[in-house]
Amino acid sequence: MNRVDTALAHMSLEDKAALCTGATAWNTTPIERLGVPPLVVADGPHGVRKVADADSMAIGALPATCFPTASATASAWDPDLLREMGAAIAEEAIALGVDVVLGPGINMKRTPACGRNFEYFSEDPYLAGECAVAYVEGVQSRGVGTSVKHFAVNNQETRRMVVDAVVDERALREIYLPAFEAAVTRAHPWTVMCSYNRINGVHGSQNHRLLTEILKDEWGFDGFVVSDWGAVHDRVASLAAGLDLEMPGPRDRRVRAVVDAVRDGSLDESVLDDSVRRILTVAFRAEETPAGTFDPAAHHALARRVAAAGMVLLRNDGVLPLRDVSSLAVIGRAAKEAHFQGGGSSHIATTMVDEPLTELAKLAGGAAISYAEGYPADDASRPDLIDEAVAAARSAEVALLFVALPGWKEMEGADRDDLDLTSQQVALIKAVTAVQPRTVVILNNGSAVAMDDWIDGTAAVLEAWMMGQAGGGAIADVLFGVVNPSGRLAETFPHRLADTPAYLNHPGEQDVVRYGEGMYIGYRWYDAREMPVLFPFGHGLSYTTFACGAPRVSETVVRDVDGVTVEVEVTNTGTVAGADVVQVYVADRKASLERPKKELKGFARVELQPGETKTVRIPLGFRAFAFYHPGHARWITESGEVEILVGASATDIRGSVTVDLVSTVELASILTPLSTLGDWLADPRGRAVSASVLKPAMAALTQAVGGDPDNGVDNQGQNLYKMSLPLADVLAFGGDAVAGDPVEVVARLLGELRA
Ligand code: BGC
Repeated sequence: MNRVDTALAHMSLEDKAALCTGATAWNTTPIERLGVPPLVVADGPHGVRKVADADSMAIGALPATCFPTASATASAWDPDLLREMGAAIAEEAIALGVDVVLGPGINMKRTPACGRNFEYFSEDPYLAGECAVAYVEGVQSRGVGTSVKHFAVNNQETRRMVVDAVVDERALREIYLPAFEAAVTRAHPWTVMCSYNRINGVHGSQNHRLLTEILKDEWGFDGFVVSDWGAVHDRVASLAAGLDLEMPGPRDRRVRAVVDAVRDGSLDESVLDDSVRRILTVAFRAEETPAGTFDPAAHHALARRVAAAGMVLLRNDGVLPLRDVSSLAVIGRAAKEAHFQGGGSSHIATTMVDEPLTELAKLAGGAAISYAEGYPADDASRPDLIDEAVAAARSAEVALLFVALPGWKEMEGADRDDLDLTSQQVALIKAVTAVQPRTVVILNNGSAVAMDDWIDGTAAVLEAWMMGQAGGGAIADVLFGVVNPSGRLAETFPHRLADTPAYLNHPGEQDVVRYGEGMYIGYRWYDAREMPVLFPFGHGLSYTTFACGAPRVSETVVRDVDGVTVEVEVTNTGTVAGADVVQVYVADRKASLERPKKELKGFARVELQPGETKTVRIPLGFRAFAFYHPGHARWITESGEVEILVGASATDIRGSVTVDLVSTVELASILTPLSTLGDWLADPRGRAVSASVLKPAMAALTQAVGGDPDNGVDNQGQNLYKMSLPLADVLAFGGDAVAGDPVEVVARLLGELRA
């Protein structure tokens, strides 16, 4: 017997129930006599928030490196860097005695208004999935577990513990689940955290379909599911649904409820045993991780590198990089008090923090630097601060305007109701740009902000995100060209909130939020609506320029299961070294179900010296071409032409190549008594089975309504009409041409189909 089975065999019912509910806010229940250690968890995702007192939910976290938040790391489009960051976080977890880091957060950015977007990667499931896999692999490579969260469809903070996210099956499968699926099937996280909200009527903590049928059975998840803190409503129902560990503890009443349920037969003990086995497996695995320490200075340096890599240069008229500037006006309180992380459970007690102003001074080569606060910490109007800033800006060569979206606008637990900076900040930018055309705005925020009101007067805008504790240095690196920016937006920046996909369906009413936009979030929405945006998904400037050759594929006839590799030559045509991000989108223009105009299915970040050319190879597999068919309840492909687009953003496509996709998917018939004539004819087996009755029925029907009995196009209106008739009605219109009751004839045909 292995260690898990041995321990399980010696556990009482009470031991088992206790193991499945936390002992403290952050530990599982140890069982000393059986050598079962407590498993210690702590919040992530962008650092380790180890709370010193295990009984406290929040107070007294120990120092750890605050790395850049997920918005920033995703914008680097660099999974290797995220893997490195994950490994560093794991080292800190080990040093702090933490077995499992509660992250990454991989929910989709359905709306930029979600207050917790800073903790999430992207509006695109493929990019979020690649980031999730890299983060999980990085952390777990050092023997520390992760908790991929919040499973699932947790895309807003408003009433997050009660709201019901009503989402259709395709949106669920193609948008909201793939990042989790990628993380689970490729990186094998030790744990998955359920979401607070309801999904199609059932809480995340009690959702059998999500936790058991999809996560465990379909994806083969072999870790344990932990509740979000306080997400469990009915402990017995949640265990039965697949929720293995309830947190936080202690919750004696919950433990007793489980014991009673097994005793009275309402909960099968084998269900409890499965959860116990999963928790024991992780607890014993964690025990094998050797102790260690970490180097705060080295991690701070890594945090600086990651922060710089994630910064996105949105706009630049040439003012950046700063060279030979003799005087700088540094404006905005975020230049002194860096806004580098968000409020809520992910808040890290830092080891050290870079002040942007100090870091700028280090690289400014003796330039005279003045500072003006610009705006207060609250939302008060302060014309005096604007006057001061204007005076500083006027007398300097360049103004650097640090604008941080205040913490009270964006945090865990609440959503924004606009995308605006504060009125004082907008007034400040307008006043400064009016006197200083060489104004660079540096933004700190976790998700898109609206800029139409003020961007025209700026010379450059750098999106620096919530950039982690070393972000101040990273900003200086980018502004002075020590680092050539290569970040690309992992989310669209719209012109205004009213343009965004969830605008009419967020945050919902009476605790129901309908995902009326379906699969169309992010660029999928703006593509479909042909709507201009401020900055598209994938956008980001560099201090150099790149040329991209025409994309090539090794084969133009591609079997779905074989996939294909796209090759592109990229050249650095400028004068400084830099990195480009080649983005590959797939467009399936003709499918039996509607599809987004294009979808990101691959990318590669490539570093190039001036004049250098490299060939980038991006593989596309089955899933790059597939879509989820709810009728068939599976991912399918369809034969036909598919366009592969290579671009620098979702709206900047540089080249394309068309392949002839050959589907190997064999589909069962899904015809029903309601299927129309068109459905029967489109289904090869349906067509064959119904052939004998269709001919006479069609002839009779055509006599009645006109058109072509052979389904030609001489009279399109009549044929369309016929195609949308349920088969039984076609037969009924045919009168006696086909013997028998039409409903019974269709039932017989369906029987033949299923035989
Ligand atoms: C958050 C989780 C977090 C947990 C523990 C919850 O409120 O939603 O992301 O891991 O608290 O702090």
